[in-house]
Amino acid sequence: MSKTSKKSSGLSSDKNWWRQAAIYQIYPRSFADSNGDGIGDLKGITSRIPYLKSLNLDAVWLSPFYPSALADGGYDVDNYRDVDPKLGTLADFDEMLAGLHKVGIRVFVDIVPNHSSNLHEWFKEAIAAEPGSPARNRYIFRNGRGTNGELPPTDWVSHFAPSAWTHESVMGGKHNQWYMHWFAPEQPDFNWDNPEIEKDFLKTLKFWADRGVDGFRIDVAHALKKDLSEPLRNLNVFEGLDERGNKGKGIFADRDDVFKIYREWRKLFNKYNPPRVAVAEAFVHPERLPLYASTKTLGQCFDFRFIETPFEAGAYRIATQEAIELAAKNKSSCTWTLSNHDQIRHATKMGLNPAVNRRDWMLSNGTSHPLDVEAGIANALAATLYILALPGSTYMYQGEELGLHEVTDIPEKAIQDPQYLRNNKVDKGRDGCRVPLPWTTSGKSFGFGSGGAHLPQPQWFGKYSVEAEEKEPHSPLAIYRKALELRKSLQTKEEIKWHKTKDVSVLHYARPNGWHCITNFRSQSYPMPKGEILISSQPLVDGRIPAGTTVWFKK
Ligand code: GLC
Ligand code: CA
Repeated sequence: MSKTSKKSSGLSSDKNWWRQAAIYQIYPRSFADSNGDGIGDLKGITSRIPYLKSLNLDAVWLSPFYPSALADGGYDVDNYRDVDPKLGTLADFDEMLAGLHKVGIRVFVDIVPNHSSNLHEWFKEAIAAEPGSPARNRYIFRNGRGTNGELPPTDWVSHFAPSAWTHESVMGGKHNQWYMHWFAPEQPDFNWDNPEIEKDFLKTLKFWADRGVDGFRIDVAHALKKDLSEPLRNLNVFEGLDERGNKGKGIFADRDDVFKIYREWRKLFNKYNPPRVAVAEAFVHPERLPLYASTKTLGQCFDFRFIETPFEAGAYRIATQEAIELAAKNKSSCTWTLSNHDQIRHATKMGLNPAVNRRDWMLSNGTSHPLDVEAGIANALAATLYILALPGSTYMYQGEELGLHEVTDIPEKAIQDPQYLRNNKVDKGRDGCRVPLPWTTSGKSFGFGSGGAHLPQPQWFGKYSVEAEEKEPHSPLAIYRKALELRKSLQTKEEIKWHKTKDVSVLHYARPNGWHCITNFRSQSYPMPKGEILISSQPLVDGRIPAGTTVWFKK
């Protein structure tokens, strides 16, 4: 690092900054639009640096901003070492990065190594090339079954289409082969047995790390290696590719040989000062999470259990304890998460009766069962304070700091998500949490930009806008800002001590510096213990903690 860049940076020199960091996920296309074309962009992010600073974050993680035809919201990458012209330029990226660093915010970018898009140069070359050629060997091409190869090579299924194989003719190929894709047909899987792929991803990681990127979020990190030995094996299941029980020896995912890749990546990350960090998105058996989070591999792995843990004391306590024990196994730290760009917003989940089938509810545009909007936000804030005081890092998703609910009534013609479009419309998809953020109470696109928004924003968004919440001393935004500021002094030893309460539906834990966190999961209030109150997710009533409330206090 040059002297000048060091001066203009507000970053700490702590190598372990990531262990207990507050990280905020930005979905760039829906954050802020600088030129009024309805699509959020990098200059939009730069223009909102003061806002990000006001949240008291340690880092932001940007979902993909690379050139992409958006078959899967940018997780279909045309070129890993460039910026989508719709979102800006590499110069805009550098400007944004420098601006964020200056105010002490580090940056994670999203790496999508399992698949490229069908518009990646290499896939276009592969489709034009002969079977057995080096160009085809970068992906997974096979002959079909049946007399004329008219059937897919195996029974493998994909997330966004019934089969994980598409006939090459769909993409203009002329050789009667099929290619494999775990997601949409526009997302062909790379052949990670080909050393050229390994080399190219090291080049991509180096490209961003050299630019000053601090960390990487690794998309479907468990899927890169497959058993591609001939003959390919059938899975003999047609309900998904869940290989969680296979202890590293599955056909399709979470195979032991994937760690060889990450050990190489780690060597590269450790050449930087401070070492670059990474967090894996891996849907694997919980016992296998530490393998991705080891100091010799990626260092951290998302533990998504709180996304589905019901807001209930017993479940929270078990989830907390298990996650802490797992993270400790390989000297990693916890990754508390309630929401991301793939999930129904947690304020909505927490305002719905847990017995409601959420998929059907979403398909009914949120009309089949009542949603308790206020309780959802109250529970969400209680859950946030609960996880923010725990040892480890917290990954938040844009808009949750406003208490935003899911948008459930996006009209069919506006839906963008392949999860809906490609799955026989049996699942409404993920657009409802990707609607552009409301910055102002009114105006075209609620201050997102000077034009419209690429997904329709509902009327009620104005009430949850940054402008509206900045006027409100007890708004979700005010609580997030204050909690994240207070949390900075919590970055001590990663320890937690459980305290007994008079009711099993109340959880109370303490951190080594005299910091206490108490959450009332009951439906009635609970007496507040003695101590100096630092923050509460809802105001106390007559010295008692209301139902669905978390309080931080000091003793
Ligand atoms: C990850 C992403 C998701 C994407 C998928 C395919 O799960 O979070 O948004 O659709 O990978 O890249
Ligand atoms: Ca724009």
